Amino acid sequence: MLVMAINSTGLQPDREANDNRFHSSASLAPDVVEAFASTMLRCVECAALYPAIEAGKPPRYRCDCGAVLDVEQEFRLPQRADRARQAARDVDSMLYGLGSEIDAGTPSAGSPWRQIFDERAATPPIWSISSDQMLLDHSGVWRYRELILPAPERYVVSRPEGNTSLYPVGIENCVASRSGHRQIGVFAGLERFYLKHEGENPTGSFKDRGMTVGVTMAHLLGSKAVACASTGNTSASLASYAAQAGMEGIVFLPSGNVSAGKLAQSLAYGARTVQIDGDFDDAMRLVEQVCNELGIYLLNSLNPFRVEGQKAIGFELLQQLDWQVPDWLVLPAGNLGNTSAIGKAFRQAYELSLISHLPRFAAIQAEGASPFYRSFKNGFKQRETMQADTVATAIRIGDPVSYARARRVIEETNGVVESVTDAEILAAKAVIDRSGIGCEPASAATLAGVRKLVAQGVIKRDDKVVGILTGNLLKDSKTGIPQAVSGGSVKATIEAVRSALAE
Ligand code: F0G
Repeated sequence: MLVMAINSTGLQPDREANDNRFHSSASLAPDVVEAFASTMLRCVECAALYPAIEAGKPPRYRCDCGAVLDVEQEFRLPQRADRARQAARDVDSMLYGLGSEIDAGTPSAGSPWRQIFDERAATPPIWSISSDQMLLDHSGVWRYRELILPAPERYVVSRPEGNTSLYPVGIENCVASRSGHRQIGVFAGLERFYLKHEGENPTGSFKDRGMTVGVTMAHLLGSKAVACASTGNTSASLASYAAQAGMEGIVFLPSGNVSAGKLAQSLAYGARTVQIDGDFDDAMRLVEQVCNELGIYLLNSLNPFRVEGQKAIGFELLQQLDWQVPDWLVLPAGNLGNTSAIGKAFRQAYELSLISHLPRFAAIQAEGASPFYRSFKNGFKQRETMQADTVATAIRIGDPVSYARARRVIEETNGVVESVTDAEILAAKAVIDRSGIGCEPASAATLAGVRKLVAQGVIKRDDKVVGILTGNLLKDSKTGIPQAVSGGSVKATIEAVRSALAE
């Protein structure tokens, strides 16, 4: 395999960081510098702090110690909401005799935030008259922009994304008109169960939420090219958003292990598609080196801003539940970006008093690609890696990049990590598909994991559980789907059709 010498900044000693082909040499715009003045990147291992953006320097994806970084920012209510906060203060001082400062623990401390997000969600855009701001309000990511990224609005690259359904599928919370969906609750053994279908995003997976933020960063930094390694969904999303922003998209895929639908998306959206003779973990190592060497903006979840966008899954599902916290949040886990992101969203929602406590997290891995599960089983004493293999190609990952961030989420939510076999994933997928909702194989790990944890008594039958479905059924039209019998067509006569239906 290709190995390049890199120094602590990730740059080859003899190469210029900002190759003009990929990166604009123009300096950062003053509004960008001002907007990011108080945004920092903190190392998740040694806590070192770096400015989020630095004029004249290449973007930073790792700490000098080699660990990944986390975005830290101060959350400021927009001015209009400041008035609502004053009103909340007045209510608090009337009801609870509090002074002028709201502290995070008071009942109404989160209400100005809730109010502003609820107002934005309630205003559908009308294209001919909508201001850009209303269009941002309509995005299930940028609606929460004060908690996501301080980007000046003119740089935002949005489809828009998000606004995905939260399906009630529990035995108890499913009405008669959705008896098909109730089969999912029966299979899981849960009375109150919801599935949030991130496969309803513009390119068919949850990746669009991080990508709108990642490509916005690329735009405001003046990058001309963006790249990622991917098991298929990140690449499809990158290709789409890069095309929208007029940037060159470059995607590295593990050859032979990306479903045809995802590969077709990257090609159709016009990304330069490099299939690597190796697995995702090889592609990941290579893309990081190439991006640092050529000044291409890296858009894997190693990029901390992508994680900020994916937090919106957490904010949106909380809003859909009227800010009532479920007992459990269950999701499939591969590179661990999503576990990190949704965990961070809940932590921040708690810090802002949007919610009163944290749910427990359950991250579900495929048995053949379960390094995080193995680390959890050894009490996180040692970080495990492995050669990965599973039918759920989206999560065929043996050395997850966001390990440290995700570990924190499991530990601080008293969470669990579980593994499920390919057979269990496919059985769960068949139930989700036949309910009429449908999902790609990796997503079905969520339901397989819920069923297993309910059977073990870890999740209680009457717990309120939200599961994340990460990708659309159409992403993979082969795995776990009954294939039409070839030559099985019938003559175009009514007799032939009658006899076919009578079989
Ligand atoms: N589900 C689907 C459908 C995915 O595509 C992925 C990751 C995951 C779950 C796991 O999420 O990595 O944040 O833990 N897909 C990446 C990709 C690796 O390249 O599309 P994670």
